[in-house]
Amino acid sequence: MLKKGIICVVGLGFLTGCNSFDGLIEKKETLLGNPHSGKSTVPVATVVEDEVWEDFFEKESEVAVAPEEPEDETANEEEPEEPTEVSEPEAIPVVANPGAMNVMVNKFWSLPEGYRPADLIKPNVPFSFGDENSDRSKLRAEAAESLEVMFNVAKSEGIELYARSGFRSYETQAAIFDNEVATFGYEQAALYVALPGTSEHQTGLAMDITAKSVGLELVEAFAGTVEGKWLADNAHHYGFILRYPKGKTNITGYAFEPWHFRYVGVDIAGEIYAKGLTFEEYMGDVREF
Ligand code: DAL
Ligand code: ZN
Repeated sequence: MLKKGIICVVGLGFLTGCNSFDGLIEKKETLLGNPHSGKSTVPVATVVEDEVWEDFFEKESEVAVAPEEPEDETANEEEPEEPTEVSEPEAIPVVANPGAMNVMVNKFWSLPEGYRPADLIKPNVPFSFGDENSDRSKLRAEAAESLEVMFNVAKSEGIELYARSGFRSYETQAAIFDNEVATFGYEQAALYVALPGTSEHQTGLAMDITAKSVGLELVEAFAGTVEGKWLADNAHHYGFILRYPKGKTNITGYAFEPWHFRYVGVDIAGEIYAKGLTFEEYMGDVREF
């Protein structure tokens, strides 16, 4: 009925449609424990190749809207059905400082609509996908320059790092989120992928980093590699924090992501590292989930 169509349209703001784009992406699945299933392993973490989505959005600009269901012929015409109240998702407040190096976006703070930093550049570092001039290879200038220094120092110490996913547009983040929901369900998706508008990748200050030791994938096992350990111990010297630490899901809202590094500048990163804080704790803005 009408309700179904409305829910779908309301959902567009967050999910960009009630679509299913199965088969359009290259998906890499990782076997991790699933806290909900009681089984030891199920696929939960996925990585989407950004350029596939970019290609998709260039070709397909229309947004699918679910058709309304046919009217119920037996409905009593004298007593038309009361419009059913549809609960809309609450709007997520928008940050006032999207361009600040210490901007905090999370499940409670979003970026302004259409935000795209003006100073995105491609750092001269190895990428898991090779050399290409795409969104995902870029960061904001200050973060990109610092990433380059970090990768060079790591290399001089025998640690070979690979950048895998940097800046994402709203549309790319939406497509990744949408696919994750279609594949694993909302609850699991929301543990690993930010709603469009709330991803640090949209700030141009976050880079997912990996290594050959884990097949250049973004997996929890990265934490146990020499590269993952080096990053966790040293990234703060270059202004980066491990944004979603282990055991802090109740504060960050996300599962452990040993690959996701966020640039905040050396002063803040140093304090966060020294005190063992999450960014939310550092900012004094910890919410109940
Ligand atoms: N994986 C992080 C939470 C993101 O999607 O921004
Ligand atoms: Zn990330």
